[in-house]
Amino acid sequence: MNWAYGEHERELLQAHAHVWNHIFNFINSMSLKCAIQLGIPDIINKHGKPMTLDELITALPIHPTKTQCIYRLMRILLHSGFLSLKAIDGEEAYVLTKASQLLVEDNPLSVKPFLLAMLDPILTKPWHHLSTWFQNDYPTPFAIAHGMTCWDYAGREPKLNGFFNEAMASDSRLVASVVIHKCKDVFEGLNTLVDVGGGTGTMARTIAKEFPQIECTVFDLTQAVADLKGDGNLKYVGGDMFEAIPPADALLLKWILHDWNDEECVKILKKCKEAITSNGKVGKVIIIDMIRENKKGDDESSETQLFFDMLMMVFLNGKERDEKEWTELFQKAGFSDYKINPILGLRSLIEIYP
Ligand SMILES: C[S@@+](CC[C@H](N)C(=O)[O-])C[C@H]1O[C@@H](n2cnc3c(N)ncnc32)[C@H](O)[C@@H]1O
Repeated sequence: MNWAYGEHERELLQAHAHVWNHIFNFINSMSLKCAIQLGIPDIINKHGKPMTLDELITALPIHPTKTQCIYRLMRILLHSGFLSLKAIDGEEAYVLTKASQLLVEDNPLSVKPFLLAMLDPILTKPWHHLSTWFQNDYPTPFAIAHGMTCWDYAGREPKLNGFFNEAMASDSRLVASVVIHKCKDVFEGLNTLVDVGGGTGTMARTIAKEFPQIECTVFDLTQAVADLKGDGNLKYVGGDMFEAIPPADALLLKWILHDWNDEECVKILKKCKEAITSNGKVGKVIIIDMIRENKKGDDESSETQLFFDMLMMVFLNGKERDEKEWTELFQKAGFSDYKINPILGLRSLIEIYP
């Protein structure tokens, strides 16, 4: 038998491996979710030094019949960069990486709630309806899976509402920590600010604390803010941003516009423009969202931006936009100028001026 590969066989097998890799890509996400649910990053973090497999197995809340399987879960986490190995006393032990430190519950900037929300079956189910959505006129794959829009479902289903709000709050803690330090000047001279679609108010609360001279309002759907109480220079107002937005020097739109299609975005931006009070030159809208890069790269960031774009299509019929698409929205809504501050990794802070 001739075992030598020709170019054709090599390409065929490479293609086959590529297909397999993509079939099983979800195993990275699901293994990570499992590790978080078992508390692996928290346990290693509390241990305070590199942790051997035996120490980890002793500390883990798992059934004795499964102890022999843990090293296999750890192996995939090592491979995907969520753990690394360090030698102690001649034995290899696990340490957290920068990425898994962000999944430790006690980390004030933890994104654990975001991970658990995105991988909850309520939010993974719509992906099974993506091709059906392409073939009929349903508004979103989410609506096919759950029979209503994401916002209506969140209003009725406390579980989705709960984990969605926690996910958003965790993201806002991280974003606020960067914005407050890197973009102080964005908030200078403002007397009033409305966080439009501000959810439970994590972002506005941080701004209100850091800038006590700014009267901050969290504006969101009535059912979303009904039970929330403001204090000091922070208050909650319920309403619909497509109808009217409370007036302020600055309107903040964090992770709002990517939820909506272009027509809806222009409507929201026009409502924001109407709401800008005439406070000299400081009146503006502050957008925190992604500016999609068009370069063809195979790096992780480009892929993540494409993931988010698909996510917005599946859940909400929204999209991630490149700079040209953003500029068109600003012009259609009647804004005259904008400034991009690329300070948030995959996202940017964009100031737009009337
Ligand atoms: C993706 S979340 C972003 C929350 C928050 N800005 C953040 O980044 O943490 C979108 C928010 O928009 C709110 N929302 C949806 N439709 C709205 C409407 N018509 N008027 C006001 N808020 C709305 C939702 O309730 C939700 O809190």
